[in-house]
Amino acid sequence: MATVKLHDKTFTIYLSEETIQQKVEELAAALNQEYEGKRPLFIAILNGSFMFAADIFKRLTIEAEICFIKLASYRGMKSTGNVITAIGLDHDLYDREVVILEDIVDTGKTLNEFLPQLHHQQPRSFAIVTLLHKSECTKYPLSIAHVGFDIPDKFVVGYGLDYDGLGRNLKEIYQLAAEA
Ligand code: IMP
Repeated sequence: MATVKLHDKTFTIYLSEETIQQKVEELAAALNQEYEGKRPLFIAILNGSFMFAADIFKRLTIEAEICFIKLASYRGMKSTGNVITAIGLDHDLYDREVVILEDIVDTGKTLNEFLPQLHHQQPRSFAIVTLLHKSECTKYPLSIAHVGFDIPDKFVVGYGLDYDGLGRNLKEIYQLAAEA
């Protein structure tokens, strides 16, 4: 499909299924090399990363574990501003080789606010892998170990990413079309 309509918006094809799967293959190959013998713990950030995480994980040939967490932002006390809590993080990260799997990093805010909680648990190593990165939107710099595609500042859907709940089931990634 060259275009899809979700709610009131039209999206045009941006990354084909084949292009995405080829990139996933490359990323998984790199992870297989880097984490051989280290039994990494992958932490996939829900909801958006479920498809990417599943595709990466089934291509791993090394011993590895995975857990899925949801980051919830709530207003903390006045001095702390927004606080991010990780729902479902039931693994002990102490001395583990931790790999975060994200679908998209935009400003970097979400991960930036969450990382101190991870570091607090003293993992042995820690890396971020994201399928998509809008690097031109960075406001909170992060050290990202692997980026699948650096994409422009346009809203995208598909392959786990949604527009107001819809589009997650698309095998391709679509970009918001310019208004006619
Ligand atoms: P950040 O905290 O600004 O890096 O935003 C990250 C989150 O914003 C992602 O996990 C997505 O949920 C959401 N997001 C940012 N850009 C897009 C997009 O183009 N499509 C769908 N979700 C997006």
